[in-house]
Amino acid sequence: MLAEVEAMDAALLAWFQDSGRDLPWRRTRDPYAILVSEVMLQQTQVERVMPRYSRWLQRWPTVDALAAASPAEVIVEWQGLGYNRRALALHRAAAKVAEHGWPADLTVLPGVGPYTAAAIRNFAFEEDVLPRDVNVERVERRTRHSFAAASAQALMDLGATICLARVPRCATCPLHAACPSYGTREEPVRKQSRFEGSFRQRRAAVLRLVVGGPRVSAELDEDAVCSLARDGLVVIDDGLVRLPA
Ligand code: ADE
Repeated sequence: MLAEVEAMDAALLAWFQDSGRDLPWRRTRDPYAILVSEVMLQQTQVERVMPRYSRWLQRWPTVDALAAASPAEVIVEWQGLGYNRRALALHRAAAKVAEHGWPADLTVLPGVGPYTAAAIRNFAFEEDVLPRDVNVERVERRTRHSFAAASAQALMDLGATICLARVPRCATCPLHAACPSYGTREEPVRKQSRFEGSFRQRRAAVLRLVVGGPRVSAELDEDAVCSLARDGLVVIDDGLVRLPA
């Protein structure tokens, strides 16, 4: 007998069939490819991730290939995606998996928190867990419904295109008939901090320079260099700042 799907999930899945996004990481169950996509998507928009995800997998198609790359190569390839620490975390995660295989608890991998672990378990290993990011949490809060694990991708699309935080498009929502929050708005809880004028911007500027070749330390933004060095994104030796070999 087929498992019964709740009406809310059924309406969502029917909408997803017609209106879901065709995203490249939805055509694979390879845990490495899913890991790459999820780490990129942690803090970068889908549109920006798509071409970079494909390029990354062309360059390093397997976990072993990525583990064999140098940190410098990985940092250079990551440029433009932002939050560069993720590149090193992904590289270290690949090294760990290449050596020991996929761990039962995925959160032991660098850069993998509970959300990313749940996404890999669902999308790659087809386990019955629902990854809850801010979009999924918002849809569950607004509908007051706990969705099935099978609804994960559909929920992400609904949260990204219809059930928007500030101005939800309730009129076109497949769930509006049963939604207790129909027509109401909520203030966004968290916003990515401003990049312009931030320390993050200063770090990114220094790293971009060093990606172009070793630089004289004294000529760079000292606080940014120290912070990058602490994260292992650059090394300082003999007065020069360079990428880690
Ligand atoms: N954001 C985080 N993970 C995602 C995914 N798998 N698809 C679309 N958006 C996402």
